[in-house]
Amino acid sequence: MHFLSLCLSVVSLVSSVRAVSTFSPVRPPALPLAVKSPYLSTWLSAGKDGGNGGYLAGQWPTFWFGQINGWAGQIRVDGSTYTWMGALTGTSTVNQTSYEYTSTSSVFTMRVGEMVEMKITFLSPITPSDLRRQSLIFSYLNVDVKSIDGKPHDIQVYSDISAEWVSGDRNAIAKWDYGVTNNGVAYHKVYRETQLLFSEINEQAEWGEWYWATDGDGMTYQSGPDVDVRAAFAKNGKLGNSNDNGYRAISTKWPVFAFSRDLGSVKTSASTLFSIGLAQDSAIHYSGKPGGMTVMPSLWKSYFSTATAALDFFHHDFSAAAALSKDLDSRIAKDSIAAAGQDYLTITSLTVRQVFAAVQLCGTPEDPYIFMKEISSNGNMNTVDVIFPAHPIFLYTNPELLKLLLKPIFEIQENGKYPNTFAMHDIGTHYPNATGHPDGKDEQMPLEECGNMVIMALAYAMKAKDDKYLSQHYPILKKWTTYLVQDALYPANQISTDDFAGALANQTNLALKGIIGIQAMAKISNRTAHPDDASNHSSIAQDYIRQWQTLGVAHNANPPRTTLSYGANETHGLLYNLYADRELGLNLVPQSVYDMQSTFYPTVKAKYGVPLDTRHTYTKADWELFTAAVASTSTRDMFHKALATWISETPTNRGFTDLFDTQTGDYPGITFIARPVMGGAFALLVLKEGL
Ligand SMILES: *[C@@H]1O[C@H](CO)[C@@H](O)[C@H](O)[C@H]1NC(C)=O
Ligand SMILES: *[C@@H]1O[C@H](CO)[C@@H](O)[C@H](O)[C@H]1NC(C)=O
Ligand SMILES: *[C@@H]1O[C@H](CO)[C@@H](O)[C@H](O)[C@H]1NC(C)=O
Ligand SMILES: *[C@@H]1O[C@H](CO)[C@@H](O)[C@H](O)[C@H]1NC(C)=O
Ligand SMILES: *[C@@H]1O[C@H](CO)[C@@H](O)[C@H](O)[C@H]1NC(C)=O
Ligand SMILES: *[C@@H]1O[C@H](CO)[C@@H](O)[C@H](O)[C@H]1NC(C)=O
Repeated sequence: MHFLSLCLSVVSLVSSVRAVSTFSPVRPPALPLAVKSPYLSTWLSAGKDGGNGGYLAGQWPTFWFGQINGWAGQIRVDGSTYTWMGALTGTSTVNQTSYEYTSTSSVFTMRVGEMVEMKITFLSPITPSDLRRQSLIFSYLNVDVKSIDGKPHDIQVYSDISAEWVSGDRNAIAKWDYGVTNNGVAYHKVYRETQLLFSEINEQAEWGEWYWATDGDGMTYQSGPDVDVRAAFAKNGKLGNSNDNGYRAISTKWPVFAFSRDLGSVKTSASTLFSIGLAQDSAIHYSGKPGGMTVMPSLWKSYFSTATAALDFFHHDFSAAAALSKDLDSRIAKDSIAAAGQDYLTITSLTVRQVFAAVQLCGTPEDPYIFMKEISSNGNMNTVDVIFPAHPIFLYTNPELLKLLLKPIFEIQENGKYPNTFAMHDIGTHYPNATGHPDGKDEQMPLEECGNMVIMALAYAMKAKDDKYLSQHYPILKKWTTYLVQDALYPANQISTDDFAGALANQTNLALKGIIGIQAMAKISNRTAHPDDASNHSSIAQDYIRQWQTLGVAHNANPPRTTLSYGANETHGLLYNLYADRELGLNLVPQSVYDMQSTFYPTVKAKYGVPLDTRHTYTKADWELFTAAVASTSTRDMFHKALATWISETPTNRGFTDLFDTQTGDYPGITFIARPVMGGAFALLVLKEGL
């Protein structure tokens, strides 16, 4: 009896403050809603630089770049209408009681008085080993309602999208159409009247067709001016089954595309499912094939004859896609907790949709490719030093994906379309134009990219047990290693991946990458029956690493640590390139270097992390996680705790930035948003599993 009354008092305490939401595991800077591809990437701002704290009702969802993607939700309970998504005027909002994220979903719980509870699930399914499902550029919105007062309630659910999804130019003319698929999925198809193939405006795609869909009994639909359509539902609890044929600019009497479902008298529970997605027949313009430019189809085109067939499959696949996504959620949760606890899971699970939404599957099942966009730093494609920080998540989820990301990089260079002796930086200056750099004038990071290519080729081959891959690419890997042998010990004045921090000669951490790359090539040589190359590369790497420990270490500092550059004894930085030595099992770098760094980092930790180096107070979250993965347990946990705290306290309000100030938690004047580099969160899990 006592126990029961205690429970009741806790419940009533909670319900008296129910207008305040809980956030689990924490409230991230932006809440992922439909986050599935470079062009399907819609978020809810939370951080105080512009977000409302993480409440779905009361502000508009935005594209990752910041502009609104109109997406509204209303519910009518016993004749009264409330808003559950978007900044609608004229109705009161439901009360959000909780928000929870996993690797693949965001779930909001809402209360409508003491009568009804809503569970609103945004699921962007991720199926790393099922390329057919993964190729679909679609995301789910599922709305569950249940009576919580034991009484039946008359419930209708409404949701619409605006034409803002179809172009980054609000003056662009939109067209639309309504239809029903063979298996009963009702859809609004919305698209730019003038298609601009392979073009972007404000980072949005200017070609392809958007689909917004639902199914089930009691469905009505309508397109028309936003205020009219939303008011029609609020008034009548249903829509007019009518299509507005006045095709016009996105911002002229804002056309919206709405569905309503009458769930009838709900005694226990009921649900309704929506799907949102983008269909582009042609996805990428690609220069790597032996001839000229080729047009790469979206991979889903090989599996489905039409976009509506793909939509039909996706919409009816909800339970299977949800189960597969849940498997991935559980695996990541279990492994992250076992590896380093809740702070680590808070980080890993926030990165997954962001990383997968930066890539797209293209080509055919016989000849597939993956293309990656840097997202916010610029539009560069398959940037080697962006794939490198991201690569642990691909090794962890499916190493084949890493191979497909590296494929166009090898192909362009092996087909003689890049003139330099070192490795290329990216396959094209702006997504989706993979036009390469036949003039050799890319953003050169020679040592960085040669090291990255050799290291990632070996990591993939070890994880996938695919030494044939190493034989196939041996000549070019050896060519890049020749560059490493020339440049790694005394790196010339050049930029590293941290290009925003400026160029510098003799960078200690960059040298280490090059030296580890040479030892990685020794291992590649060994695995491909080139014993002379193996012993040659190995003896060079051993010699270099011995010298590096004199050149790059401030032995007399207190405590000793590696420097930012040779001889600059007052400097320091994150020695994140050490990670590859452990990852590849090279044992090139003595344990004393690992121990020295683990002892050092806590002495320079600021509120939200350890600065990248002595030039600035900012840090890189991806490199912190590489560094943490090879640190002592207590230093590793220090990194994780500071980063998990940052996630919940940062004033930034966009997708997880990898660059932030360690003291204020804010952007340091450079705004990186939702970049795939955060796949580096999986560095520790790769070490735990082994290659
Ligand atoms: C939301 O909570 C407030 C405060 O408890 C209450 O006054 C209001 O009626 C609630 N609104 C809904 C739609 O439940
Ligand atoms: C891709 O190339 C085409 C043709 O040159 C150009 O019109 C388009 O703007 C480019 N796309 C981007 C995003 O730069
Ligand atoms: C060892 O490798 C380097 C760099 O690839 C090359 O310049 C050198 O000739 C090689 N030495 C031998 C003995 O093969
Ligand atoms: C790099 O370091 C070496 C050894 O300290 C020095 O001799 C050389 O001048 C440095 N290079 C540059 C470009 O500063
Ligand atoms: C690789 O190295 C191992 C151990 O040093 C050696 O036994 C083996 O013969 C080498 N394999 C090749 C192909 O060089
Ligand atoms: C840096 O420290 C090393 C010893 O760790 C010393 O040999 C070197 O002279 C110092 N360099 C400078 C510029 O003070």
